[in-house]
Amino acid sequence: MTRPDALQPQALPEDYAPELSLRPRRLAEFIGQEAIKANLSVFVKAALQRGEPLDHLLLYGPPGLGKTTLAHIVANELEATIHVTSGPAIERPGDLVGILTNLEPGSVLFVDEIHRLPRTVEEILYPAMEDRKVDIMIGKGPAARSIRLDVPPFTVIGATTRQGLLTGPLRDRFGIVLNFPFYRSEDLLEIVQRSCRILGFGIRPEAASEVAKRSRGTPRIANRLLRRVRDFAQVDGHDTIDLGSSRRALDALEVDASGLDRLDRLMLSTMIEKYQGGPVGLDTLAASTGEDAGTIEDVVEPFLLQQGFIQRTPRGRCATALAYTHLGLAPPPTAPNLFG
Ligand SMILES: Nc1ncnc2c1ncn2[C@@H]1O[C@H](COP(=O)(O)OP(=O)(O)O)[C@@H](O)[C@H]1O
Ligand SMILES: [Mg+2]
Repeated sequence: MTRPDALQPQALPEDYAPELSLRPRRLAEFIGQEAIKANLSVFVKAALQRGEPLDHLLLYGPPGLGKTTLAHIVANELEATIHVTSGPAIERPGDLVGILTNLEPGSVLFVDEIHRLPRTVEEILYPAMEDRKVDIMIGKGPAARSIRLDVPPFTVIGATTRQGLLTGPLRDRFGIVLNFPFYRSEDLLEIVQRSCRILGFGIRPEAASEVAKRSRGTPRIANRLLRRVRDFAQVDGHDTIDLGSSRRALDALEVDASGLDRLDRLMLSTMIEKYQGGPVGLDTLAASTGEDAGTIEDVVEPFLLQQGFIQRTPRGRCATALAYTHLGLAPPPTAPNLFG
């Protein structure tokens, strides 16, 4: 059970070019997440005034919420060069040593999916982040010796979908840790309107808010839905998207009024129909829906939890009364009712 591309919160290679053009470049263009922006602008300004690199920065939250975008923005605001890599791309400690020792002073090293760095590579990163030193081994056997190399002043920006997957020592080396919550619909509305302007299409306010409301609190999904909605409007011969074409597109994609898609609803109905509403464990859910456990944990659950459709208990996930009513079922008296 995979999602149609428009509903994938993960980045897909084929829409990289259009995503880039919709990607804000400066902090002022980054919509929403006011708390994150307010803090960051102080930290950036202070670092610039002192002429020092920014403290290492960890960004975490579900896919599609703007972590990569913000990493590039921070580098822009610091007027620093950015070197982009990712946890799985750095296989050997030597690869990281090569990157670190060749950094331009003051630059940003962006490590996406930092929780997937191999442990041996992570161990090179610790002293580099803390003391700007790396230790490398030269030679083999009894003749082997270790030498210390200097690393220029730099800032690591790490991004991860789940902070819990980071090892303690790595997490501790980030001076700034920012958690991305899902976006409010008024922010998504602004994102949809901005993207529409960039795409050169008109959109009626009620159509824009329909897309915003159904995009799972996620800018990447908002932009993807918007493109599909635009297809419907365009084929109908309109140059402005109205509520009719946006509703038709969203219904065709099986996104419901709460923004849940087929996989979200499958998760809820599986919990309710096969496991009497839970508690049910993650692996059991993955096996019964045929979906990857990591995807459930990173993508499906956070939104269902945040919206109050499920609850996490020490014994597993439970469907709430809201989940039953959402599927048109009568909740049993035992179902957790988060809204009293
Ligand atoms: N705050 C924002 N304002 C405007 N657009 C945003 C914002 N956050 C994300 N986007 C859009 O969503 C897309 C996905 O963001 P991205 O930074 O790649 O997410 P992540 O790295 O968290 O998966 C970006 O290409 C950008 O177009
Ligand atoms: Mg990203």
